Amino acid sequence: MIQFDQVSFQYKPNTPYVLNDINLTVSEGEWVSILGQNGSGKSTAAKLINGLLRPIEGRVLIDDTEITDETVYQVRRHVGMVFQNPENQFVGTTVLDDVAFGLENIGVPREEMIDRIDESLKQVGMLDYKNHEPTRLSGGQKQRVAIASVLAMKPKIIVFDEATSMLDPVGKKEIIETMQYLHKHYKLTVIMITHDLNEAAYSDHVITLHKGRVWLQGTPRNLFQYGEKLKEVGLEPTLVTKVYQSLKRESFHIKEEPIHFKELVDELWTLYLKT
Ligand SMILES: Nc1ncnc2c1ncn2[C@@H]1O[C@H](COP(=O)(O)OP(=O)(O)O)[C@@H](O)[C@H]1O
Ligand SMILES: [Mg+2]
Repeated sequence: MIQFDQVSFQYKPNTPYVLNDINLTVSEGEWVSILGQNGSGKSTAAKLINGLLRPIEGRVLIDDTEITDETVYQVRRHVGMVFQNPENQFVGTTVLDDVAFGLENIGVPREEMIDRIDESLKQVGMLDYKNHEPTRLSGGQKQRVAIASVLAMKPKIIVFDEATSMLDPVGKKEIIETMQYLHKHYKLTVIMITHDLNEAAYSDHVITLHKGRVWLQGTPRNLFQYGEKLKEVGLEPTLVTKVYQSLKRESFHIKEEPIHFKELVDELWTLYLKT
């Protein structure tokens, strides 16, 4: 669904490459996290996916179509973006207006517009807020409306660029659960940009960027195995990883590294019952 073929990018001539000879593939319906410390090029990669930026070298393909001047508007329709700051994403005075805006722009007929708005607000659990002012919503609710606006455009891919990072724990949970539901329900391809390994644990694959290169492409388990070494690429191991690593140091035997909290708790019970 997404392919980077030897992609390099720099913002200005004679400055270092922000992305340097990147190859990556994301299949249809996958949930992929892009990880990396601040400045590692994650948002730049996101903008290359929807054609806001164009590579200096190499090609970006969406659903086998290379992004070019001719294809960019067509391709962009398939790629929805949800950004970090829920405050900056509103254009309408009500939730309804806000979701309607993008649809008006692409000339969706009125009847279909109403259906699409209701359907997408329903899917994110915000239908009851249709006539509310966006400013009065919680952070998590605002992001869910932003997701509904994207969903109404019927994208094949949704890119979440640190979309949970400004939310409180309740808001974060709301968004992750909404993402999981949409991923299943619509078989959407999800790109989740984050520096939080707890969030990355939910994905099928992870891509870790470091100094403009792909440092690791694999499963969350492949990544979590690096333990404390993750700090070298600016990532913080999760509590689950830290507990697992210290158990290992103390020679407690756990057959497979847990990555989710529940897996760890199950393993701890097994250990406890053995002793
Ligand atoms: N518009 C821009 N002009 C010049 N440099 C930029 C611009 N946007 C980002 N950069 C630089 O590119 C690098 C990668 O930025 P970015 O893709 O935003 O990283 P991330 O999202 O991982 O924090 C950083 O060094 C950043 O300073
Ligand atoms: Mg960023």
